[in-house]
Amino acid sequence: MKKANQVIITDRKMWKDYVLLSLKSPQIASKALPGQFIMIRITPHSYPLLRRPFSIHAVEGESIAIFFQKSGIGTNILGLRKIGEMLDILGPLGNGFGLKGDFSHKKTVLIGGGRGIAPLFFLANSLADRKAEIRTFYGGKTSYDLPLKENFEANGLKVFCSTEDGSLGYKGLITDYFNLEMRQFRPDRIFACGPDAMLKTIADIAAIENIPAELSLESIMGCGIGACWGCVKRLKKDGVTGWFRICQEGPVIPADQIIWAEKDK
Ligand SMILES: Cc1cc2nc3c(=O)[nH]c(=O)nc-3n(C[C@H](O)[C@H](O)[C@H](O)COP(=O)(O)OP(=O)(O)OC[C@H]3O[C@@H](n4cnc5c(N)ncnc54)[C@H](O)[C@@H]3O)c2cc1C
Ligand code: FES
Repeated sequence: MKKANQVIITDRKMWKDYVLLSLKSPQIASKALPGQFIMIRITPHSYPLLRRPFSIHAVEGESIAIFFQKSGIGTNILGLRKIGEMLDILGPLGNGFGLKGDFSHKKTVLIGGGRGIAPLFFLANSLADRKAEIRTFYGGKTSYDLPLKENFEANGLKVFCSTEDGSLGYKGLITDYFNLEMRQFRPDRIFACGPDAMLKTIADIAAIENIPAELSLESIMGCGIGACWGCVKRLKKDGVTGWFRICQEGPVIPADQIIWAEKDK
């Protein structure tokens, strides 16, 4: 059974709807894998009652970072927590992206939609350590949705941006931009995180092009540790179709195992 940790907030950066928090947690920093997540108790009080899940965005020394979008009660309150305050967190949880094998000079594409970019920074840096060739596609509705572009570039990572309103980069959906760029850079592996519609399009492209893809799924999580069955999604694993707990089997799932709708069964 994992034990919760009290950790101190050591840094906070804020953009319009997005927040980057650094947390000192040697226990989690020493074990975390890209794609894993933590469950955070938003305040020391009983409201909101349930912890909320957040991807591990970065690991640096004894610290980890989370990057989140203010999208409801919990994330709005979390955005108000200040440097020096304590947070109660549980993790690392989940499986993480598949990084076994040789990635040297392997062409990898990372695709993040909005807050879905969160786990891809840790992943991109881990792939860079493994000498992979990396292209990160980062899409949002408008330029305000892409606050991490500079952070990727500061680490020498190539970022291809798109916005639906054309305020930054390619005008249109990030999946269309990726499809276009794939003519020059056909990846050996795809990793993605974002809204379901984006992930479904990537799964379709990956199936047509026969490229292995791993997708980090979101699900409403009550516990994060396999106890509540609140996070289930329909998957087809080893020939068995059924409801699987995303906090246990995922959150990273091979694209060809995901059943998006009844007709995909
Ligand atoms: C494994 C995992 C990792 C995640 N990592 C990140 C991350 O790194 N950064 C980030 O910004 N967000 C992440 N999320 C989503 C984040 O957990 C939700 O946005 C958050 O829990 C919403 O809490 P809230 O109290 O602000 O929203 P609420 O007030 O509870 O709800 C507001 C709206 O958000 C929806 N919602 C609530 N929980 C989720 C959820 N888990 N997934 C999708 N929609 C939800 C509700 O249905 C409602 O429409 C992750 C989710 C999962 C499952
Ligand atoms: S979140 Fe409770 S079982 Fe997955």
